Amino acid sequence: MKVLVIGGGGREHAIVWKLSQSSRVDRIFCAPGNTGIAEIAECLDIKADDIDSLLNFAKYEGIDLTVVGPEVPLTAGIVDTFVKAERRIFGPDKSGARLEGSKVFAKDFMRKYGLPTAEYKTFTSYHHAEEYIRLKGAPLVIKADGLAAGKGVFVCETSDEAIDSLKLIMKENAFGNAGSKVVVEQCLKGEEASFMILTDSKTVVPLATSQDHKTIFDGDKGPNTGGMGAYSPAPVITNSLHSRIMKTVIDPMMKGLKREGINYRGVIYAGLMICEGKPYVLEFNCRFGDPEAQPILMRLESDLFDMLKAATEGRLKDVQVTWKDDSAVCVVISSKGYPGTYEKGKVIKGLDEFKGKRNTMIFHGGTSLKKERIVTSGGRVLGVTALGKDIQTAKQNAYKAVEKIHFDGMHYRKDIADKAIKRE
Ligand code: AMP
Ligand code: GLY
Repeated sequence: MKVLVIGGGGREHAIVWKLSQSSRVDRIFCAPGNTGIAEIAECLDIKADDIDSLLNFAKYEGIDLTVVGPEVPLTAGIVDTFVKAERRIFGPDKSGARLEGSKVFAKDFMRKYGLPTAEYKTFTSYHHAEEYIRLKGAPLVIKADGLAAGKGVFVCETSDEAIDSLKLIMKENAFGNAGSKVVVEQCLKGEEASFMILTDSKTVVPLATSQDHKTIFDGDKGPNTGGMGAYSPAPVITNSLHSRIMKTVIDPMMKGLKREGINYRGVIYAGLMICEGKPYVLEFNCRFGDPEAQPILMRLESDLFDMLKAATEGRLKDVQVTWKDDSAVCVVISSKGYPGTYEKGKVIKGLDEFKGKRNTMIFHGGTSLKKERIVTSGGRVLGVTALGKDIQTAKQNAYKAVEKIHFDGMHYRKDIADKAIKRE
């Protein structure tokens, strides 16, 4: 079988790596891919949002399954276009991708179908939002409605901070059209977890649990990023909490999708806040998390190709999904300046010794080749991911590997997985 993976980050590297282990997969293409992906797949000079060129390639090459990594092509309707052209593709259509593409839609959906979530109000007028912020008082969370690469959410401890964030979104248009609407939300205190499911719209397969580290600095300080590290499983999700999440979040969500006429085939990622043992939904994503996919896919024992193909064919009930008992920890190494403007073109040293290893993987996020040397080209450069018999061992293995890698201005958090270790 021939597979095309769309995207070029650490998540896509992990997806390609896992697909390459399937006995059914003969060739993998990746658009655009990156330097790490190029070692195991054929990378194409096609951007992830160039839907027409991607479809042309899939037709020309006779691709059996296209797998979409990032949210941008999903919300732009790549699945609708491929399905219309009778090409098999994994991911939700445009109507399903709205769960991530519009925070206003997602919050209204949660309210309509009774999912536990923070109290909120939505605004299209700057003045009304400002008035509301003054009335409510801090702490508050201000969210741009549309896609903002994980950077359009501001957790504000004072009203002034909240108003500054509102200005950035609605007056300075920092996120363009994505900021024409905002959600102003009650601030929840608790511990976060990422809960992903795979669905063909009839069967729901919960994936292994995980936890992300959103902020740039240790101790959950500093601005939000796309994610600075993740581990799996997340011990904060005990067996009883898992059942509770399935009952109070996933079941009503699936019922809601059906009622809305959304035939969702793909991954749904619920970003949860666990407050006093109860789950609240902070956000939905319509795809695998990045970096959560890296540790999760390292723990996956089953054949990813079979799982994704079955989801597109409505046959998920026939698929058994199993996980390694090992834990996995991923530490993201980022470029100096990220999540703001960051440096590029720095030579990365120390990657060679990880070739061929199966328990420690260096997933590339933002890398490219310059005069045959691997250089940095993105904000999140590498996702150093290791397995271990428990989280503590996996963490040690991951940081041991991080210490062998070097580029100018590299930054990483030193406290990835500490919350889990405290619980172990
Ligand atoms: P989101 O993209 O909505 O998940 O928001 C990104 C991050 O902002 C989350 O992972 C949380 O760390 C934080 N966040 C979002 N909503 C809330 C909330 N209502 N209360 C506290 N923190 C939040
Ligand atoms: N790690 C958070 C996300 O993928 O959105």
